[in-house]
This record gives sequence, C-alpha cells and structure tokens, in this order.
Amino acid sequence: MTNQDTITESENLIHTQLLDGDNPESIRQAAIILKEKGLVAFPTETVYGLGGDALDENAAAKIYAAKGRPSDNPLIVHIADTDAVYKLAKEVPDKAKLLMEAFWPGPLTIILPKKEIVPDGTTGGLNTVAIRMPSHPVALSLIRESGLYIAAPSANTSGRPSPTLADHVMEDMKGRIEMILDGGAVGIGIESTIVDLTSEVPVILRPGFITKSMLEEIVGKVTIDPALIEPDPNLRPKAPGMKYTHYAPKGELTIVEGASNASTKGANKVITKINQLVLEKANSGFKVAVITTSENANLFDCENILVAGDREKGETIAAKLYKVLRQCDELDVDYIYSEAFNDGELGGAIMNRLLKAAGHRVIKV
Ligand code: TXA
Ligand code: MG
Repeated sequence: MTNQDTITESENLIHTQLLDGDNPESIRQAAIILKEKGLVAFPTETVYGLGGDALDENAAAKIYAAKGRPSDNPLIVHIADTDAVYKLAKEVPDKAKLLMEAFWPGPLTIILPKKEIVPDGTTGGLNTVAIRMPSHPVALSLIRESGLYIAAPSANTSGRPSPTLADHVMEDMKGRIEMILDGGAVGIGIESTIVDLTSEVPVILRPGFITKSMLEEIVGKVTIDPALIEPDPNLRPKAPGMKYTHYAPKGELTIVEGASNASTKGANKVITKINQLVLEKANSGFKVAVITTSENANLFDCENILVAGDREKGETIAAKLYKVLRQCDELDVDYIYSEAFNDGELGGAIMNRLLKAAGHRVIKV
C-alpha cells in the first residue's frame, strides 16, 4: 500500500505539481506558493526538504500534517545569507561564526537561542532554533526568490527514509503538498550534521557529512550527544527527532557485523552468516534482500542484492543508502540483511542511520 492509499477521503487532496527545479519560472511559481503559505518540496545537497514559511505558525502546522510528524519535533530553518542568523538568533557566539564561515553554504545545521519572531510551532516549543544555509542552487534560489526563511524537514512521511530523488518525494507527498521542484538525485544523501552551540563546548546532535574532526579543526573540542552513542532508554537525545525509529523499511532489517570489520577473515564470516540467514528465510518461503557493496555483491546467494555503493568510498554509500532502503519496500521483502559500513570518515553517520533503520538489530560474527 502506498501512502497515497492511506489518505482518507475526508482529507482534501491537493494537486501536486512536479516542476523542473532548474527552470527559473518554476522557482518563481514555487516562491508564490510559499508566500501564500503553501508547501513546496525542494532539493538540497543532503536530502529533499519540505518547505514552508518558517515564521508562520500555520505553515509549520501544515508541514507536520503533511509528514504525519509529531509536533514536538522541531524544524530546521533554511536561509540564504548569514545576516539572517542575526534576525533569528538571540546570541551568535564566536564559535558559531567560525563554523558558519567554514561550512556554509553546506550540510551543517547550528542550534542557537531563538528570537521571539521564530514561532513555537517551528521550534516544537523549544527556546532554540536550528538554522542551516544549504548549498544546493535550487534551494538557495528558492529562499532568495521567496524572500522568506524556509522551515524544511526532510520531505518523507514520518518514519520513512529521507527522499534523495524527486520520485521519493512524490511517493510520500502526492496529494499533500502543492509542488515538488525536481533537482535530480541529491549529492550527499544523508541529512546535515547538527551542532548545538548553546553551550561552551559544541555538541553534535546528529552526525553527518561534516565530521567531528572537521568541526574540531575550526573550533577545538566538540562532543557527541551521549544518547547517540549507545541506545539507552534513560538518555534523551537533545535533537528530539533522533529519538524516533527512523528510516525503517517495512521488512525486518538486521545488520551483520564482523568483529574485525576490516580484515578479510571478518568480511568472510559476515558473508557466510548472511548467506546462511538468507537460505533459512528463503526456505521458509520468505522474500529476502541483502544490502552490500560493489566489492562483495557477487558473493551472496540471494534473489535481491542491493548495492549501496563502494566500500572504499563512504560517500557513495551515503548517497544511495536511503534509495536502497526504499527499494526494499518496493520489492516488498520480508527480511533484509545488511553488511555494516563503519569504515572511513563517514562510517559513523552512515551507521547512525542504518542502526535506526534496523531498530538496532545487530548480529556480530
Ligand atoms: O539535511 C537536512 O538537515 C535536511 C534538509 C532538508 O535540510 N533536513 C532535515 O530536517 O533533516 P528534519 O526535520 O528531518 O530533521 C531535523 C532534526 C530533527 O532531529 C530535530 O529534532 C532537530 O533537527 N532539531 C531541529 N530544531 C532543533 C532544536 N532547536 N534543538 C535540537 N534539535 C533540533
Ligand atoms: Mg527527517
């Protein structure tokens, strides 16, 4: 069943236009919709966002309704020039300025104390605001053309993987929003790094393409929200969105991880274990998929082998991970087994998403 089917007849279906984001006329029309308090999905360099006027409570309410998202989960405000930060935030510490200079426009979101003009509806009642300047030209043009600050969560229905293609947005949002700007496949594929700058030592609330060491190079010591490291029910993540099960495909996803991931022996054990699990489930009549890398793809005996990317290049895995998780739904598989992808600089951010998608189901071999 698609999300479209789940919309009841009593809800008003909106006609969702799909326009070419590279066409200036599309941007003009999208900006008009936003100014009239409607919703437009647009590409960013990380994932597609679902945009509405960030300073309008009603637009925020519409975003939550379209996503089916709990309203205590705050939205990121997208801006196109640094002056906007001073209009939205009460204080802008030096470390924030340094990070803005180093990484904007780009996949970094900063948390600062909010000014009155940012409605509670946008921040989920928090007294802080999340701000990001995306680098995608379509996103920047849309913000500039509308003259607004654009609140934009990822443009998926709540709980599904974030959209990395306009088609993914259409799957989730058709009938719920006025327009989708198509900018093709996004570059990065996982959401921005979120850094809380309301304390002396910056805290990473969500790992992403901008890594801890990249941040530390600019501002010195940075910590990671402890709730992200081990799933502990007593620890509450500081980014409310991080507490929800996320990105999960409908089939049951399990990660099979080698004790010594890098070694050939560890890798062989993982492959043997996954093949054994696939065989067991297939023999019981279930439909199964394997998530792997180009290096290992031909080592599995499974009817659905989904290649996330190249193990040597973490950025290729980040770029395709959500697409592959969505493919599991399209194939309607019952069980999914995935290799772990902790190698390299991006490993932490990729595994943060994959572990959530797997509900932290991990088999270590
Ligand atoms: O890459 C991205 O950041 C994408 C694109 C569209 O820009 N956006 C995105 O938004 O991932 P969303 O809404 O799916 O995730 C926003 C995250 C949530 O986990 C939310 O809890 C957290 O940011 N957040 C927003 N405002 C916050 C605040 N004031 N304090 C702490 N966490 C906050
Ligand atoms: Mg999201």
